[in-house]
Amino acid sequence: MLGRVSVEESRLAHRDNTLTPDFDVTLEQWSGVMENFDTGSGRARLETSGRVNGQARLRAQGDLAVSPLYLDLTGQLDGYGMETLTPFTTRYLGFGVERGRLDVDTEVSIEDGQLDSTTKIAADSRAEAERQWAESLKALRTDKVELLQVHNLRDWKTQLPYARELKEQGKTKYVGVTHYLDRGLDEMERILRSEPLDFIQIHYSINAPAAAETVLPLARDKGVAVLINRAFDDGKLFGRVKDKPLPGWAPEVGVESWAQMFLKFAISHPAVTSVIPATSKPKHQRDNLQAGYGPLLSEAQTRELIAMDL
Ligand SMILES: NC(=O)c1ccc[n+]([C@@H]2O[C@H](COP(=O)([O-])OP(=O)(O)OC[C@H]3O[C@@H](n4cnc5c(N)ncnc54)[C@H](OP(=O)(O)O)[C@@H]3O)[C@@H](O)[C@H]2O)c1
Repeated sequence: MLGRVSVEESRLAHRDNTLTPDFDVTLEQWSGVMENFDTGSGRARLETSGRVNGQARLRAQGDLAVSPLYLDLTGQLDGYGMETLTPFTTRYLGFGVERGRLDVDTEVSIEDGQLDSTTKIAADSRAEAERQWAESLKALRTDKVELLQVHNLRDWKTQLPYARELKEQGKTKYVGVTHYLDRGLDEMERILRSEPLDFIQIHYSINAPAAAETVLPLARDKGVAVLINRAFDDGKLFGRVKDKPLPGWAPEVGVESWAQMFLKFAISHPAVTSVIPATSKPKHQRDNLQAGYGPLLSEAQTRELIAMDL
């Protein structure tokens, strides 16, 4: 039985020799109380805080018991600085990161053998964005760009304000956000409703037309320009139409290949500003450019293509 243990402004050092290189972490300014720690059936209480490696703030509090097992813990770690692939991130958190700042907010409870937990982890940072921006300018040999987009909505609550700051400084003309999967559409919609944007970039193709339900009409209403990625579904669509002839009306819209049809499908939506297909071949580039000529598709033609269910 330990009774009540108080710690004030202490230092705790942990070294893991099983990792290469050895991994050291320290908890400084460690204060708190641990009450009623014993091996019996009573509940122990923990309330502790400190700074990890002199920098990140750590707090943990809650109740626990050994038998029957009971746990009701909340923990926060704010601003843990990470180097590339630190042993900490791979061994203790299970993933490797490209440098950044780690924030963890976690609640874990175990009662009657049931585990409930909620965890939020953000492993990005303003500092990392500044580093990437500086590297991009160097690689592009410029001091400004036309359009700066937050990739895959990642850490957008930090990165979008940063992009806007750069816009105010005249370093970028436009700002936007991107995603490429259906699961990004709801968040894209929320951002469109709540944030001023110049551009969005999203996927839209014959076999993934969900953006047309809400995101594209909303972008149009708000006057936000739209770039379309993955109009060929990463090239997968070509395999699906290998033995299929083009619709009989293809010549009426100036389309001579499936690539042109897929691109024309995307550009024909009234919200779409531009499509950005990828290719490594000049022959395909010539083919793709041809989609920019001739009439756009009617709604009925668009529906017919979606109904092919590719
Ligand atoms: N979150 C994001 O911001 C995000 C996510 C995904 C993609 N993107 C961007 O969106 C753009 C397009 O994406 P993506 O490359 O994933 O998909 P995509 O444009 O749908 O597909 C590219 C594939 O289509 C093939 N292809 C291109 N033109 C062709 C033609 N005329 N005939 C036959 N095959 C052809 C290419 O192969 P060949 O090389 O052989 O032509 C390549 O394999 C890229 O700029 C990418 O960076 C952005």
